[in-house]
Amino acid sequence: MIQQINNKHCCSRLSINAYFLIVVNLILIIVGCVLVFGHSLNLNREIFDPNHDEWSYNDPKWESLIPNWWDQKNFKPPVGPAEESTQEFWKSKAQKTLQDKLNSRINTNKAKNVVIMIGDGMGFSSIMAARSYLKDVSAELSFEKFHHSGMSKVYCVNYQVPDSACTATAILRGIKNNYSVIGLTSKVNLYNCSASHDEEARIPSIFKYAQDADKSTGIVTTTRVTHSTPAAVYAYAASRNWESDDNLVPDGCDDIGKQLIHGPVGSKLDVVLGGGLGNLMPEELGGKRRDGRNLVDEYKKQHKNSSVVYNKDQLKSVDPKTTDKLLGLFANSHLDFKLFANDETQPTLTEMTAKALDILKKNQENGFMLMVEGGRIDRAHHENQAHLALEEVVEFHKAVEYVKQNTNEEDTLIIVTADHSHPFTIGGYLPRGRNILGPGDYSIEDKKWIFSASYGQGQGYYNHFDKEAGERKSPRGMKYMEPTFKQPSAVPMDEGTHSGEDVGVFASGPYSHLFTGVYEQNFIAHGMMYASCLGPDDVLKNPKCENDAENEIK
Ligand SMILES: *[C@@H]1O[C@H](CO)[C@@H](O)[C@H](O)[C@H]1NC(C)=O
Ligand SMILES: *[C@@H]1O[C@H](CO)[C@@H](O)[C@H](O)[C@H]1NC(C)=O
Ligand SMILES: *[C@@H]1O[C@H](CO)[C@@H](O)[C@H](O)[C@H]1NC(C)=O
Ligand SMILES: [Zn+2]
Repeated sequence: MIQQINNKHCCSRLSINAYFLIVVNLILIIVGCVLVFGHSLNLNREIFDPNHDEWSYNDPKWESLIPNWWDQKNFKPPVGPAEESTQEFWKSKAQKTLQDKLNSRINTNKAKNVVIMIGDGMGFSSIMAARSYLKDVSAELSFEKFHHSGMSKVYCVNYQVPDSACTATAILRGIKNNYSVIGLTSKVNLYNCSASHDEEARIPSIFKYAQDADKSTGIVTTTRVTHSTPAAVYAYAASRNWESDDNLVPDGCDDIGKQLIHGPVGSKLDVVLGGGLGNLMPEELGGKRRDGRNLVDEYKKQHKNSSVVYNKDQLKSVDPKTTDKLLGLFANSHLDFKLFANDETQPTLTEMTAKALDILKKNQENGFMLMVEGGRIDRAHHENQAHLALEEVVEFHKAVEYVKQNTNEEDTLIIVTADHSHPFTIGGYLPRGRNILGPGDYSIEDKKWIFSASYGQGQGYYNHFDKEAGERKSPRGMKYMEPTFKQPSAVPMDEGTHSGEDVGVFASGPYSHLFTGVYEQNFIAHGMMYASCLGPDDVLKNPKCENDAENEIK
C-alpha cells in the first residue's frame, strides 16, 4: 500500500531531488534566520526590556547569547552603540570635557546657602549601576555634572566598616567617632547616657552654627526623621537606636524624637520632612511612645505659623508665604520604597525637597542650610534588592537635579555624597545594552549564567544556592525584574552589611574646589563651614567672613 501511494505521488527521480532541495533550502533559511536573529538578539536591548525580561529569559534562543570569549576561533564580540565606534565620537567628547574644565573658574564667593545631600549607601557601584538602569551605562547622573568631585574615607574610630551614625557625625559635625553613636566623641561608649552629658564629648552640628548665624534650616529624608543621618543634624545620642522612648533610653537622656521637637537645634529647624511619625506619637494613638506624649501636638503649640502635614496633597497645599515652620510626617516608620509607594499619597524626595526650598529661600538675608537624604538606597542594599536600590538612586539623582536647577551656583554650595557604600558589585563581562539587573555573563565552571549585580553578604544567598544539589541555581527563568527579587550574595547573613571603601563627593558652588582629592570624611563639615563662614572659633576662617562681620557692626 505504502509503496503504491508513494508511487502515485512521487513521480520521477528528478522531482524527488527537487523536493529534497526545497526542504534543504527551507532548513537552511530557518537555520540562517535563527543565526541572524539570534545574533541580533545578542546586541538588541529589546530582549532585556524590563517588561519582557522574564519570558525572553526563558526563551530557548537564549542559548545563542552564551558568550564565547573563551573560544578564540568562534569568538563573536558583542557590539556597542554604532556612534561610539568612531574615533571622532571619543575625541569630541573628550575635547568638550576639556573645554568645560578650561572654562570653569574657581568660585570664592561666600556660600550663603548650603545644601548637603546624602545618598545613604550610595557607593560608586550604585552610581555606575544607576546610569545603566536609568538609560545606558554612558548616562550622566545630575551630580556627575558638578564641577568638582573627590573621595572621602569613611571608616570610623572603632570600625573599618562604618554605620550611618558615625558617618553622619563625620559629615555634619566634623569629627570621627564610634560606630552607632551620634554627635559624641569616641570617649563616649555605646549606650553610656551619663558620659554623653560631658560637654567635651559633645560636638555641635554644622546646623547649630547655621542657626546661630540666623540661617533657615531644614531636613528632608525618606527615612524616619529620627533615623541616624537626620538625627546627626540635631541630636546627641549614645545610641542611634534611641529614636523614641520605647527603646531602653536610660533616665537622664532624651530620646531622639524628643530632641527633634524640643532640643536646641531640633526645635529651631524650619522644615522637617520624612517618615517616623510613630516615634513622635504615644502608644494610645498608634505611636511608639511610652511617655504618653504627643510630640506633634507639642510642636504645633510651640510654633506659630507652622503646618503639620501627613500626605502628598497636604504637602502640595502648603503655602510657603504663610508657613514659616513645616513638619511633614508621611509614614509611621520609613517612607515606602519608590517602587512600592502609593504615588497618590506619598510625596517623592523631589517634591519634599522642592517645598523645603520654597520655605527656606524666604530667608533672603541670611540664607539657609538644608540636609537632603536619599535614605532608602541603603535599606534596599541590606536586603540585596538591587532593583529597589537603583530606583532609589534615581530618585536621589532627580532631587539633586531639582536643587541644582533651583538654586544659584554663585551663592549656594551643594555637596552630594554617600555616607558609606555596600559590598554591591557589578561583575561578569556584561555587554553594552544589557539590563544591569539581569544575567550578564556565563560561567564555564558550572555552565550557568551569572548575574552581574551581586552582593558580598545577605539573604540573596538562599535564592541562588541550591542546598540539595550543593550548587548554584541557574538564573534561567528567575524573575529578576520583580522589585522584591534578591540578587545573589556570596555569604548568607541575616542582612547585607555596609562596606568600607571610599565614597564620592560631588560639589557645586562656592568653594566647591575644596572638595577635590581624597580626604577623611569629617573634612566635609570643615569645608562646608569654611565656605559658609560658620563654625567654632578655633577653625580656619575665610577672610570674606571678616568683611561680613564688619558690615554687620556698621
Ligand atoms: C570607641 O572607640 C574607642 C577607640 O577605639 C574605644 O576605646 C571605645 O571603647 C569605643 N567605645 C565603644 C565601642 O562604645
Ligand atoms: C560611662 O561613662 C562614664 C564617664 O565617662 C564612666 O565613668 C562609666 O564607667 C561609663 N559606664 C559604662 C557602663 O561604661
Ligand atoms: C505669621 O505669618 C504672618 C504673615 O503671614 C506674619 O505677619 C506673622 O508675624 C507670623 N507670626 C509669627 C509668630 O511668625
Ligand atoms: Zn545601612
